[in-house]
Amino acid sequence: MGLKAVTSGIVVANDSTKPRSKTEKTGSKPPPPAANTLPDVDVFQSRSVPNIFAQVPVGDLYRKTNDAALLRFLDEAIAYAHLAPLSSLDDAKLAIYTKSLPKVELHQHLDGSIDPETLIEFARQRGIDLPADTIETLSRPAQKANGRSTLKDFFERFRSAQVVWKDRDAIKTLTVHVIEKAAHDNVKHLELQFSPVGMAECHGLDLEDVVKGVIDGVAAATEQFAIGVRLIVTISRRRSVALGWEVEKLAAKYKDRGVVALGLASDEKAYPADEFAPMFQAAEKDGLGRAPHSGEDGPATNVATAIKKLKANRIGHGIRVIFDPEGLELVRTEDIPLEICPSSNILTGAAESWAKHPFRVLLDAGVRVTINTDDPGLFGVTLSDEMALAAKHFDLSCKELRTIISNSVDAAFLEGRDKQKLRLQVLTGISEANRALVDNLTLRELLLLAVGGMRREGMPMDQQRKFVEDFMSYLEAAAEGNAAAKEDAATLLA
Ligand code: ADE
Ligand code: ZN
Repeated sequence: MGLKAVTSGIVVANDSTKPRSKTEKTGSKPPPPAANTLPDVDVFQSRSVPNIFAQVPVGDLYRKTNDAALLRFLDEAIAYAHLAPLSSLDDAKLAIYTKSLPKVELHQHLDGSIDPETLIEFARQRGIDLPADTIETLSRPAQKANGRSTLKDFFERFRSAQVVWKDRDAIKTLTVHVIEKAAHDNVKHLELQFSPVGMAECHGLDLEDVVKGVIDGVAAATEQFAIGVRLIVTISRRRSVALGWEVEKLAAKYKDRGVVALGLASDEKAYPADEFAPMFQAAEKDGLGRAPHSGEDGPATNVATAIKKLKANRIGHGIRVIFDPEGLELVRTEDIPLEICPSSNILTGAAESWAKHPFRVLLDAGVRVTINTDDPGLFGVTLSDEMALAAKHFDLSCKELRTIISNSVDAAFLEGRDKQKLRLQVLTGISEANRALVDNLTLRELLLLAVGGMRREGMPMDQQRKFVEDFMSYLEAAAEGNAAAKEDAATLLA
């Protein structure tokens, strides 16, 4: 089937073959800019995609034509589009795209995953007493009115949220809820961390019961939803070394029940990691991964300390490593993944602004960066949201998002066949999502992205211009041919 057959079957509304309006003919009033006009910049020279093609999704053109020249143009444009910053895409399409990507979450606190509304409703249903100041703290926006928040402010909110862990059954139910949400967000593998000490405190629970409640929840959720889950048992820096040891022992005890690593969270500025180093060294001997928070808002050198003394094989956040050349060299040479949580960093003030966030610099420096949510309930984000925000603010392309998700697969605490299966599932899903993204673009959107990709690749301007010119000339000729074909048909039928 040729191109004419394609377009004549698809185009209806604003067909360029229709006679021009009077105002256009007299030129008394300039027509409003057509939605398919390309920007008035040098490479586009204000050209327009002929109306006949304007609303046809690229996927329809691609599938229905056997015109070799059109396929060549489309293939080249699609290849460059995958290299383009996705910031030129409209928000709705970007959101659909990031949701469609199969994702891997490496840094999510179960104890920060329940959104305030759910939390308050759950407490009401279960007869959990919520003092007015707890409700007030929880209901506060994630960011202060003046835009300046600190991690200390956030920890206050985080601690208020711990009131819901009433008993083992509450823990199980809410764990299922959190995993269900991740599965609906198209997360294929989730490493959920939690602090048994923090969760046990409010209602005086037994630490081991907390771990069992979470494990119950994981078992129930993974029966129902298409998602793999592993657990990171986390030590709180605010607590004693003795409690730290208890947590490490529990992590080791439940290693065969889905626990894969030991974490370290809470206030990095106030409580240095050093005294917890022996627990992490024990975790290594016990065959557990080590994923402490480090370099989030504390000294930049904390990242190197975590790698050297805590034997960290992944770093929670780690963004401040950008200010420590030795630490930066270490994460690169030792290939230590950073679990970066962009919205969290902005909302807690760990990064001053999106513009000053070091994600792009770290990515370009070859650091194995990953994107995560940290506390999705309290920050009001999903992993898809995080990917879209990161794409927008850090100018990420489809190819870079693929690298970032693939980094998460590599960094996941999974081994052998489990890891291979996840890699295959994720990479296949990303290819499908990329295909669907392009399929639903208009030609104008595809061209904008393609030129963005050409720029990113450093293609000289005259070559970019030539590609656009040739493609547009081809489309104009095809549109005219289509009009002629219609007229022929009309003559024949007369
Ligand atoms: N616990 C929950 N979120 C945290 C964060 N962003 N930093 C340290 N500890 C945390
Ligand atoms: Zn965290």
